[in-house]
Amino acid sequence: MSELLIIPGSLRAASASRATARALAERLKDRATCTIADVGKLPHYNADVTDNAEVDAFIAQVAAARGVIFVTPEYNYSVPGVLKNAIDWASRPAFASVFKDKPCFVVSVSGGALGGVRAQAHLKYILGGMLAHVPAAKEVVIPLANNKVSDGMMTDEDTLAFALAEMTTFFDIFG
Ligand SMILES: Cc1cc2nc3c(=O)[nH]c(=O)nc-3n(C[C@H](O)[C@H](O)[C@H](O)COP(=O)(O)O)c2cc1C
Repeated sequence: MSELLIIPGSLRAASASRATARALAERLKDRATCTIADVGKLPHYNADVTDNAEVDAFIAQVAAARGVIFVTPEYNYSVPGVLKNAIDWASRPAFASVFKDKPCFVVSVSGGALGGVRAQAHLKYILGGMLAHVPAAKEVVIPLANNKVSDGMMTDEDTLAFALAEMTTFFDIFG
């Protein structure tokens, strides 16, 4: 089975992003070997650091993955710093990093009504800058996400069905 890396953009235990990542991993387990990344282990980006084991492990996870699904909240109209930090680590060398040509899919979540759509747009812009492959799909945004979580799992079936349906093209590439 193919390796699928799911990267949540939130570290908090009760995170709706992490709950959504878990629910997607559960539903995709017959299709791919799913790993949920822990970007909280990474140090702050510093180009002088070239021998950090957590950084190496994260970059190896991205390299090994046939595809990457990001599930991220919106912080202050953009991508959370912890997620951007992880992306920055894996983004070198520029235009030739482990993200080059990598099939990527973005799901955004929000406690509010807009579902993190601005963070979604920003993340896709960032992925474009790394020459990642983000197939066209309707934007999967999850508004009022905290109301759709139970016992650490996203339980809104309509939301999950929509997300999985929009991943069709992503999985066509992913194989
Ligand atoms: C620092 C911070 C900034 C936030 N900024 C936004 C924002 O710009 N737009 C938005 O819709 N929600 C914003 N929120 C609310 C988040 O959508 C909400 O807390 C969400 O549950 C966080 O995702 P998580 O559940 O995966 O941790 C913000 C929350 C925090 C803690």
